[in-house]
Order: sequence, then C-alpha cells, then structure tokens
Amino acid sequence: RAIKLGMMPADGIGREVLPSAQRVLQSTPGAPKFEFIQLAAGFEHFQKTGSALPQETVDRLKNECDGAMFGSVSSPSHKVEGYSSPIVKLRKELDLYANIRPVVGVRGTKDDEKFIDSVIVRENTECLYIKSETIESTAEGQVAKAIRQISEKASTRIGKKAFQVALARAEMRAKQGSSATKQGANVTICHKSNVLSTTDGLFRTSVRSVKENDKRENGGEGLFEQITMDEQLVDSMVYRLFREPHVFDVVVAPNLYGDIISDGAAALVGSLGLVSSVNAGDNFFMGEPVHGSAPDIAGQNKANPIASIRSAALLLEYMGYPEPALKIYSAVDEVIREGKYLTPDLGGKSTTSQVEEAILKKLNP
Ligand code: NAI
Ligand code: MG
Repeated sequence: RAIKLGMMPADGIGREVLPSAQRVLQSTPGAPKFEFIQLAAGFEHFQKTGSALPQETVDRLKNECDGAMFGSVSSPSHKVEGYSSPIVKLRKELDLYANIRPVVGVRGTKDDEKFIDSVIVRENTECLYIKSETIESTAEGQVAKAIRQISEKASTRIGKKAFQVALARAEMRAKQGSSATKQGANVTICHKSNVLSTTDGLFRTSVRSVKENDKRENGGEGLFEQITMDEQLVDSMVYRLFREPHVFDVVVAPNLYGDIISDGAAALVGSLGLVSSVNAGDNFFMGEPVHGSAPDIAGQNKANPIASIRSAALLLEYMGYPEPALKIYSAVDEVIREGKYLTPDLGGKSTTSQVEEAILKKLNP
C-alpha cells in the first residue's frame, strides 16, 4: 500500500517550497509510492477560521498518516488573542520529542574551508521552554523567574535517540563507501554542568547511562558499542563549532542550548534555505525546513526549495528508506556544486521552480 504523508504547507514560502519537496518525493527512483494528504494549518488559516491547527488535521495525522511534512508558519511577534503556534502544538500532540537537524556542507564548494557534517539532536519538550515564568514586585523593583525542567525520562530518551542517529549515520557512511567524510560515529553531550550541576548534571548522567543500559539490556554486546562518546560545555561548544566544525558528529543538547547552537551551525553552510530538520518521536516523523515563512520573499518564486527537499529526504531516511534519501542528497549536492541553478540567497538568479527542475533532472537524467 502507498505511504500516506500529511502535507501542511501552512504560510508564506511554505506554500512554494513544500510542493517542490512533494514533486521530488514522487519522482525519486527507488522511493516508495506515496499518497499525499493536504492538511490545513497556519496563521492564515487561523485568520480565516479562528484555528491555527484544526482538530481534523491532528486526527488525520494520528489516524491515517504514516508521516508528515510541515512548511512554515508566520507566527506574529505580538500576542494575538486565541492564537498559538501550530508547530509547537503538533510536536506535543504527536509526541515528537526530538528535533534532529543535520548541518552539512557541500564538498567542492567554499564550504570546504570549514567543512561541517554534523547532526544536532535537540530535546524538544522541556528545559526553559516549559514556559513556567513568574514575576514579582520587590523593594528593589521587579524580579522575573523561569523554571528550567530537566527530567531523567526526557534526557534518557533524547540520549537514546542521539545514539540511534549516530548508528544510522555510521550505516549510511558504510553505504556511501569511500565518499564518506568521516569514519566511525561519536555522540557529544552538550551541557553546562560545571555551573548547573543539578539540572545539566542530570542531563549529562542520563545521556551517559544510555550506552551502559543498552549494553546490559542486550546481554553484554550493546547496539551502541561502536559509538564513542564525549562532552563539551555549551560555551566552548560554540567556540569550537566556529573554529573547527569538522570535529563534531552527533551533538545532543537540552532544548535551549540545542536551539542556539543549531541556528549558529546553520550559519556555517551559507543560507537558512539549505537547512533541514525532522521532528521525531518513537514511531512518527515530521520533516520541516528550519527556516520560517520569509514574508519578505513570499509569493515571488524566489525561495530556495532545498531546505524543504532535504527535509523530505531526511523524512525518507528516518522512515526507513535510506537509498532514495541518498539519491536526493546527491542530486541536491550536485546542483549546488555546479552552481548553475541557485536562488538569490546563494547569490544566484534562478527561481524556486528552476532549482526544483534542476534537481529533478539529476534524479532522472
Ligand atoms: P525566516 O526564516 O522566515 O527568514 C529569515 C531570512 O532568511 C529572510 O530574509 C528570508 O527571506 C530568508 N530565507 C528564509 N528561508 C529562505 C529560503 N528558503 N530561501 C531564501 N531565503 C530564505 O525568519 P524570520 O524572518 O525571522 O521570520 C518570519 C516568520 O517566520 C515569522 O512569522 C516567524 O515567526 C516565522 N518562523 C517560523 C518558523 C517555523 O515555521 N518553524 C521558524 C522560524 C520563523
Ligand atoms: Mg530557533
């Protein structure tokens, strides 16, 4: 039977780049058959109907779909009565507790100077983002406080996810053979437990325990045996990420640190229009470009569709189809390397459609 994917283009350039990703999925040799189910979500839908994420969308995702793709949403910076971000709600409803963001350069371009090929695995459900804030008036003025929640359960499961990602990368590299940029696989735990010894201390020990638990559960010969592990304080992590990005493989981080280092790492590859992500739970995955709805270029056929196309490939990879995913990654890399069809964010003159067309041609020469 066909694989059912819920498609939520949502707002702005999401409506231009998600259809590109859909056409690429449909035309990749070796990809499974798909059935695409268009679902409503986003700020414009909120303005029309009062709901940014209709119950029908959530129900169909849960009951009918095998996976999903999300475009981008235009969340206003000011508070709008009754509005809350559909993407945050989706992550909660579908229990997508990990945000996995590969940051990968393209060999044979200026990326070679500081080549990066890393994946940031960000915890998606807690840390300061539980938004438990209070404010009180004191004799010296107002004092605001936020609670930062780190739990053993969430830290252990994100740690396990990071090791699974590292293992999958090691297998992908083996498939790619000699073109592999790195051998082996490593997980770096990003924390600040020298200062926050209780919260970050728990994150650190929980992630560290994953490997030992795995070994015990599998009777001495753990799945993660071949994966090495180290750690890095978050501040020096940023420093090293910019000086020697090639040293990092898989990085696992609590929510806020993960948010910051992943946007920072994205700067190393030249455009937000290139960076993909997948929101992952235990059994459900949702691909999503890292960029927003880009109102400054929306509706002009100028947006770079690559972030979205790579997110579709990432979704394929996580749904268990690494071969067609690899084909998409190589087609995209070739188009970037040739430099003939690039959108303006990469210094080119091509349209969204032309870049999509060039990638489709590489896939089906
Ligand atoms: P943005 O990512 O939409 O745009 C930042 C800059 O990068 C803009 O100059 C834009 O033109 C450019 N850019 C982004 N994606 C591009 C692409 N594919 N091709 C070419 N250029 C691209 O971030 P911004 O401007 O801070 O936010 C705009 C809206 O998007 C806001 O309403 C914000 O809330 C929302 N947003 C949504 C996200 C999501 O859906 N997960 C993530 C980030 C922002
Ligand atoms: Mg961010």
